[in-house]
Amino acid sequence: MSNIIIYGSHYGTTKQYAEELSKRTNIEAISFENVKEINDYNNIIYLGGLYAGGVLGMSKTIKKINTISNKKIIIVTVGLSDPIDEVNKKNIRDNIKRQIPKEFFEKTKIFHLRGGIDYSRLNFVHKTMMKLLYNSVKNLPEEKQTSEDKAMIETYNKKVNFVDFSSLDEIINEI
Ligand SMILES: Cc1cc2nc3c(=O)[nH]c(=O)nc-3n(C[C@H](O)[C@H](O)[C@H](O)COP(=O)(O)O)c2cc1C
Repeated sequence: MSNIIIYGSHYGTTKQYAEELSKRTNIEAISFENVKEINDYNNIIYLGGLYAGGVLGMSKTIKKINTISNKKIIIVTVGLSDPIDEVNKKNIRDNIKRQIPKEFFEKTKIFHLRGGIDYSRLNFVHKTMMKLLYNSVKNLPEEKQTSEDKAMIETYNKKVNFVDFSSLDEIINEI
């Protein structure tokens, strides 16, 4: 059985989780941009940062898989919003469902981790996206704000880091 950890990370929090997971499981970790022959692997653990609901690099990577029949796939999302929140979890899963073929989704285990953000490091496009998003939710009445909105408002323009390696334990158990 051959295993691989693949990650999609812009600012490094997902990469940190992937590298720690690699250390603890002895499975090689590589960025999705460097994946060559994905069909050689039976077990694929994909970690991706959440960007406007999408999992960075996930659909591009999944598209390279010819057949799911001999494979086990684990998808791990890394986002700013609290993954304990059920509505948040459902939104992330619904988004993943839309981004990968049905037969893949049904065979995939999904986990959610919390990352971080440092606004001083965001590129222009990401800064602009966050500003637009912030402006669209900041004046909503509290009961109308989702936990995603709340996390964004609380952390807007700041540097926060929720990376917690102990949250990898349940993924290691699954592997
Ligand atoms: C433009 C932008 C969009 C984002 N969209 C989401 C999102 O939809 N849901 C979420 O939970 N976090 C979102 N985040 C936060 C990132 O998922 C978080 O910073 C994550 O740790 C990034 O991973 P990375 O450091 O590996 O790139 C967004 C961040 C940026 C800059």
